[in-house]
Amino acid sequence: MTPIYQTSTYVQDAPGKHKGFEYARTHNPTRDALQASLAALEGGKYAICFSSGLAAMDAVIKLLNTGDEVLCANDLYGGSYRLLTKVYGPMGIKSNYIDMTNLDLLRQSIKPETKLIWLETPTNPTLQILDIRAICDIADQKNIPVAVDNTFASPYLQNPLAFGATIVHHSITKYIAGHSDVIMGGLVVNDEGIAERLKFLQNASGAVPGPQDCFLTLRGIKTLHIRMDRACENALTLAHYLRDHPKVGRVMYPGLKDHPHHSLAASQMRNYGAMISFDLKDDSMQAANHVLGGTKLFSLAESLGGVESLIGHPASMTHASIPKEQRLAYGLTDSLIRLSVGIETYEDLESDLARALK
Ligand SMILES: Cc1ncc(COP(=O)(O)O)c(C=O)c1O
Repeated sequence: MTPIYQTSTYVQDAPGKHKGFEYARTHNPTRDALQASLAALEGGKYAICFSSGLAAMDAVIKLLNTGDEVLCANDLYGGSYRLLTKVYGPMGIKSNYIDMTNLDLLRQSIKPETKLIWLETPTNPTLQILDIRAICDIADQKNIPVAVDNTFASPYLQNPLAFGATIVHHSITKYIAGHSDVIMGGLVVNDEGIAERLKFLQNASGAVPGPQDCFLTLRGIKTLHIRMDRACENALTLAHYLRDHPKVGRVMYPGLKDHPHHSLAASQMRNYGAMISFDLKDDSMQAANHVLGGTKLFSLAESLGGVESLIGHPASMTHASIPKEQRLAYGLTDSLIRLSVGIETYEDLESDLARALK
């Protein structure tokens, strides 16, 4: 097994003569093994890992300069929105949020100062699918790099570099590590210049993951395919169950044939993922709270992508930092409930939700 190099520094042969490793913020062999694995999973040349998904995103935004603008899809993880608006906004890096399912709107929204396009697909939490290839083609005409947060799909289901993305971003915390015991982020790129700059930032800003976490992630990766297959199968069956439930309003799952982006999902993903969002016919926080408090197997918690199923309430948890009018405008209603479906026995998951909905 890959050794865990639990060291902060490395003994050198002589002053100025080291064995390839000087200091562990800069290099660590366990981290190198993980980075090689992540690059291979995404079909990319270089991977750079960070101490969290947000630290990885932070490094990407540090590629920009004051006055630049990031054009974003409007259904972003709340923490990504917070980083852009509350940290980089006051420092003069602007961000603009648009419906990126509308490619004409995308074309019109690109300005001379647009220096990066940032998107997630499937989106969080309304599970829309964005057309990575079409967006990259539009960006390419203007020479704008595209970063795709591939956390929800995982590299097993979708590889954005193959569709023309410049940077793939992961909250490794989720499916890649897979066991809800690690916080980590990663970036994968093919461009050598961008890779060098990101490696520089990894060392210069210093948000590196520890070797123990790199080891746990390498172990998690060994079962990524099996976990994803099982979780996707559970999610599809559960999405059908919820759609037929009398108390449930909308069910958002790209694997449903009547999902507005079902065929796009089928063309760019290998399966439809294991995240489901649904809201209730009684669209109130109170009704949502009954369901959220009524499950036993689905644990009420933020995050996703672990082997155990989670239930969450984006309006008050992951997306609480987004103003109410803004979230309602793109369908993130008060009763919207998000499920991260795990790998448990399907019947147990269904009966747990059935009890809570009752
Ligand atoms: C889609 C997505 N991107 C990024 C992040 C941030 O990652 P981390 O929590 O590892 O910093 C999250 C966290 O929930 C996420 O869901």
